[in-house]
Amino acid sequence: MTTIHLNQQTTGYQIHLVAEDEKAQKGKGLEITYCGQEENICIEVGIGKIEKLDPIMTKEIAAKAIKEVQRLGAKAVSFNIGVLTRANGLKNLQDIVEGILLASTLPKSYKQVPLEESFKVYLEGISEEEMERAQKLISQRKHIVEGILLARDWVNAPGNKLTPRHFVENIQKAFEGSKVEVEVMDGEAVQKMGMEALYAVGDSSSHKPYFVVLRYLQNPKSQEIMGLVGKGVTCDTGGYCLKSAGSMLGIKGDMAGAAAVLGAVYGLSKNECQVNVVACIPICENRISESSLLPGDVIGSLSGKQIEVLNTDAEGRLILADAMTYIVSNEKVTKVLDIATLTGAVVSLLGFSIGGVLCDDDTLWESLETSAHKAGERYLRIPFYKEHEKMIESKIADIKNMGESYCGTITAALFIREFAQGVSWIHLDIAGTAWVDSPVFEYQHKGATGAGVTSIYYLCQQIH
Ligand code: BES
Ligand code: ZN
Ligand code: ZN
Repeated sequence: MTTIHLNQQTTGYQIHLVAEDEKAQKGKGLEITYCGQEENICIEVGIGKIEKLDPIMTKEIAAKAIKEVQRLGAKAVSFNIGVLTRANGLKNLQDIVEGILLASTLPKSYKQVPLEESFKVYLEGISEEEMERAQKLISQRKHIVEGILLARDWVNAPGNKLTPRHFVENIQKAFEGSKVEVEVMDGEAVQKMGMEALYAVGDSSSHKPYFVVLRYLQNPKSQEIMGLVGKGVTCDTGGYCLKSAGSMLGIKGDMAGAAAVLGAVYGLSKNECQVNVVACIPICENRISESSLLPGDVIGSLSGKQIEVLNTDAEGRLILADAMTYIVSNEKVTKVLDIATLTGAVVSLLGFSIGGVLCDDDTLWESLETSAHKAGERYLRIPFYKEHEKMIESKIADIKNMGESYCGTITAALFIREFAQGVSWIHLDIAGTAWVDSPVFEYQHKGATGAGVTSIYYLCQQIH
């Protein structure tokens, strides 16, 4: 991984930031100009108007600069952020750190000859008095970025390299030696426990389902326990309601919700945050086999509710329903967030840079808004009313897993809410933002984005 240092070093490559100067016609946002000689290459990156800088733009500036010097062949660079520290102190430092680390870490490759990856960044422009605080801020954000990179790796991993069992082994390894307690229930335990919905989806494959509970309870002074639930479908073919060949390519990324939750918990534990968090991850494949669900089937669930399965491709909400029932009934959570690559409808509505949110508690939504801003992520709150709840009423069972062909993001979310038993609930649909074929932001690479990790991290920090 890239390392960030605060001492000065001659590297041959330098990055300078330039604020916008209308008279001189320079410094426009993300504009790159070259200066310096051959053995001392210097690039200037425009940052626009300093007072307009937000976390996303700041991350983009750092990412663009780093990618540019890497393209030139640099193995190390001096990065002068004096323009920012003189105006804003250390306010922008963490976003710069995230931009550097995300841009310079390429997705894991399966090539025979692995790419060599080692890069050093020497940050300049931080005063002696601020050094210690800067070091701490850098290390904190670095731990969150490690969570993002874990999430990216898992989401990028091909379905055959990350089956439910592999995913569970990866999770155990990631939290080994940490303060996070990891409990794993295998397929048999899932069935015994009565998670009929999770079992029904997961039984479609010879790679059986799992249910993982992570407990990080590190604030005994607080009554609050934040519950996190993430969709962990390691491959979603759609089942008998088979996806088309074209839409099949992204199916390995259908565990991005789980990855987001795990990445956030990873960051919280690495930073020794004093919070109480319980995370539940239902993990399975959605395939075609003799034991797969058929459209029209009626299945039970941990809650006891009978579910009419009209579309086998709407599997995420089925497994999340059982996870939701489990977390509110067994883990005493006071608020609950679920996150999933849940609907194609949210992609049509918001594209690849904005996640969809539904929430039944205004204060909780405001906390997420604040967290997302800090994280440099975008979310839009989508409303819902009783007419939408009606859309998932079933004639023959307690609920059905699909509404009409309208407002699919709302009906999917409300299906899950039915299992939250009145606990304050927030739902993040990241079907559009978890994966980019053409990166939207400079700090992304083609593939997994790590969507949700940082916003959830900051949200958990607020709930205590
Ligand atoms: N995992 C998909 C949603 C998805 C779509 C994720 C596109 C990423 C990109 C989910 O399981 C699904 O297939 N949902 C269906 C639900 C429908 C059948 C009610 C959808 O949105 O089409
Ligand atoms: Zn599906
Ligand atoms: Zn799915």
